[in-house]
Amino acid sequence: MGTPEDQTSAPLPAQGPTPADSAASPSPASWSPASWSPSSWRDRVAQQQPSWPDRGAVEAVEAELRVQPPLVFAGEARTLTLALGNVAAGRAFVLQAGDCAESFNDHSADQIRDKLRVILQMAVVLTYASGLPVVKLGRIAGQYAKPRSSPVERVGDVEMPVFRGHIVNDDAPILAARVPDPTRMLTAYHRSASTLNLLRAFTKGGFADLSHVHAWNQEFVASSAEGRRYEAIAEEIDRTLRFMRACGVDLSAGAPIQQVDLYTSHEALLLEYEQALTRRDSLTGQFYDCSAHMLWIGERTRQLDGAHVEFLAGVGNPIGVKLGPSTTPDEAIELCERLNPERVPGRLTLITRFGVAKVTSVLPGLVRAVTDAGHPVVWECDPMHGNTFSAEGGRKTRHFDDVLGEIRGFFAVHEHEGTWPGGVHVELTGDDVTECLGGVEDILEEQLPLRYTTTCDPRLNARQSIDLAFRVAELLRS
Ligand code: PEP
Ligand code: CO
Repeated sequence: MGTPEDQTSAPLPAQGPTPADSAASPSPASWSPASWSPSSWRDRVAQQQPSWPDRGAVEAVEAELRVQPPLVFAGEARTLTLALGNVAAGRAFVLQAGDCAESFNDHSADQIRDKLRVILQMAVVLTYASGLPVVKLGRIAGQYAKPRSSPVERVGDVEMPVFRGHIVNDDAPILAARVPDPTRMLTAYHRSASTLNLLRAFTKGGFADLSHVHAWNQEFVASSAEGRRYEAIAEEIDRTLRFMRACGVDLSAGAPIQQVDLYTSHEALLLEYEQALTRRDSLTGQFYDCSAHMLWIGERTRQLDGAHVEFLAGVGNPIGVKLGPSTTPDEAIELCERLNPERVPGRLTLITRFGVAKVTSVLPGLVRAVTDAGHPVVWECDPMHGNTFSAEGGRKTRHFDDVLGEIRGFFAVHEHEGTWPGGVHVELTGDDVTECLGGVEDILEEQLPLRYTTTCDPRLNARQSIDLAFRVAELLRS
């Protein structure tokens, strides 16, 4: 889809007026929890919002969303905060993974199952290698809104609004398809609900059975020469499962150990949608964004005085912020102060995405500053968004070696600083796509057109993802 999503080194300036533009933004220093409400973001500048052609139609959709049931519950979000608190403390690892942009068109049960299957396979390998619980967090059941490098693109002679995710418009390169349509927010809500329903069934109903997941990994290991390099780890996991059975641990289908917790997350970009799904929790009186368990702020919308920081500062969910290579230590600290003033472990995840060339030079300063300021954050490495480039023919891609290289750099920096490399954040699919280069099958540039189906950024395919998990396992063990 035209413009690369990785090249932004800093949040972009405002791209034309948004409904929130007219009001002056208070400075971060003037912010206080008492002045927060689910709509207080509307007094700030909201970057990356669509130009809705009809405000009345947006308001009608917001009204309809406000009366829909929540997708997730506040109690679940709090449990996730506790789990991420263990990551912040070095007692757990987090795997956040899924599509760059979920598509309204790829919504079959098989596609959702296959994505979950990859995440579970990766998680088993990481759990074994780290000897720690792995918090499983999907970019799923709501990852429909995309920030873009430019508000418009040229297709032939025609300039048209850029694709902003299926919650806003369609990706077809036709002017009519690109007009923002607010009823898509309702479709996104219903798609999220049905995806989440299936995920809940799969994760509680036997699909996550440890022995199955391990058998899938054994298939991967046996199916190629590269896979066989992981034979030793797979054999150790096998032996451990036999040991557990011998000790009387019930590994049969339906046993409690076979149920896993998969949490949902997406970029909280489209604030009208997020606000409409925000509910006051009856137990605590606090507001939660019930569109997902965890929400994050993107690299392009993390302005301290902007609408996105304002909105997420006030919800009770665990939240994340993407940090690109231009982030200064002071900015990182200010974001921590603003988004987690109470310093609750697990509340805030800093998702760094610097690119393989910059990770070892930029990350140490941020880690030192945040640690010295006493902020208990989860450090998560997104090795995707700083490593995107355009291949011959213009397709955006990433090389497996760069992805792995950034993760290596991330581990090395944390080891040096004495901090915990809490987790990884990857864009993947369960489908057999050819979008990223390299990996176990060594996908080459000329093979990219074969199965390139993403509507936004290039994703690791299932085999590349499992390959990556085994590589990270090696790092965790060394
Ligand atoms: C994304 O995660 O898809 C994304 C757009 O990331 P970033 O905000 O880091 O560019
Ligand atoms: Co992306």
